Amino acid sequence: MLLVRRTFWFVLSMSWLIAGVWVQAADSKLMLPPETAKLKEGPGAELATANCLLCHSADYISTQPRLSRAGWKASVEKMRQKYGAPMAPDKIEPLLDYLVKNYGQDGLTNRSARPK
Ligand code: HEC
Repeated sequence: MLLVRRTFWFVLSMSWLIAGVWVQAADSKLMLPPETAKLKEGPGAELATANCLLCHSADYISTQPRLSRAGWKASVEKMRQKYGAPMAPDKIEPLLDYLVKNYGQDGLTNRSARPK
């Protein structure tokens, strides 16, 4: 009986040990893509960081197609109305300035093709 119990505990502890090593090995191989956590620098960047990164990462903004001012306005309005983003109404225009300049169709940094 004692032997059975000991064997039981031995097997149990060995399986924990193996599981531990396996988890560690899996863990060291886990590579996440680097997150581009920051918005582009420039006037209004702090405003956008404060107002837009409350709920999601900067990727949500930087991976969008280049939007027009109307497009960004619609997006910002959606954040406010649908998702309840707490933005002061007088901050919307400055936010749009920033978004259009850095992530918009008219942006100086825009290198993607612009529909003519
Ligand atoms: C109150 C939380 C909140 C704030 C603040 C917020 N968003 Fe969002 N945003 C969301 C949610 C929720 C989604 C949708 C997430 C999903 O579909 O997985 C989203 C998605 C997006 C998307 C992806 C396209 C889409 O429409 O789903 C963009 C672009 C975006 N947000 C831009 C902004 C910008 C720009 C700001 C700042 C002006 C902002 N967000 C602030 C909650 C927020």
